[in-house]
Amino acid sequence: MFEEAQYFAPVATTEDGGVVVELSKSHPGFADEVYRARRNTIAALAVNHTVGEPIPAAEYTEQEHEVWASVTRELKIKHRKYAPQEYVDAAERLGLPQDRIPQLQEVSELLEPLTGFRYLPAAGLVPLRTFYGVLADGYFHSTQYIRHHSVPFYTPEPDVIHEVIGHANALASDRYAALYRKAGQAARRVETDEALEFISKIFWFTLEFGVMTEHNELRAYGAGILSSYGEIEEFRGMDIRDLDIREMGTTAYDITKYQDVLFRAESLEHLEDVVGGFWDSCDDDSIARLA
Ligand code: TRP
Ligand code: FE
Repeated sequence: MFEEAQYFAPVATTEDGGVVVELSKSHPGFADEVYRARRNTIAALAVNHTVGEPIPAAEYTEQEHEVWASVTRELKIKHRKYAPQEYVDAAERLGLPQDRIPQLQEVSELLEPLTGFRYLPAAGLVPLRTFYGVLADGYFHSTQYIRHHSVPFYTPEPDVIHEVIGHANALASDRYAALYRKAGQAARRVETDEALEFISKIFWFTLEFGVMTEHNELRAYGAGILSSYGEIEEFRGMDIRDLDIREMGTTAYDITKYQDVLFRAESLEHLEDVVGGFWDSCDDDSIARLA
């Protein structure tokens, strides 16, 4: 069994039905008791949520809304320079609030009429088979907490800024949404953990950290770059490789730092042909031959 996305803090349930998020000592919120209490409360919302019910609202502090507002301001400037037009147009279409953290229910209601995608709350790690599988049904699992205010430009732990500014804006595009669905259909088709891992790595190097050429410049369409105003300033200087399924599916990555190996599509059409085409047709056998 391969390592699942270990960047999520473990979530434990206590005997009295409470939920405890175990932040590591190196987490910027580790010593912040108020932040930790809020993380526990927010995790409990996801643990107790049932699909089909509205997503319960999380309570955020003024300071947290301010983190959203300032990160949104920073990213807006960066996106003009570094994001592809398809993403910028989709973000315009979705119309997220700029001055406060939107509730996931609200994000879901903005998104569904556009591409059919709906949000589901996640307390932490969602098993990969579930996470990817339900993309085929138009569901996206999302964390609901926000990064600690002391380190706004980058977090190694996916948060609501990443899930919403990175992913929901992309999911508001018909073309990107179609790629997410194809990843889900591919995940549903395979049985072995090895094949699922291979598919998840293609997802990592494309929809999470992909870059593409547009107007003769390198732009980032991956949600993990688009949600970090630290990382987005660095990606053009990384080791940029040609889009290649076998190489993406077998290259290792370190989730705790800026990604130093990135794969470049020549255009959105190229991405759709190569990666959409792979997800459309892959199965356990074809992946076993590549891995
Ligand atoms: N680094 C991203 C940000 O600061 C968030 C993030 C953490 C992330 N872990 C990730 C994104 C893994 C993609 C995959 O916004
Ligand atoms: Fe992500």
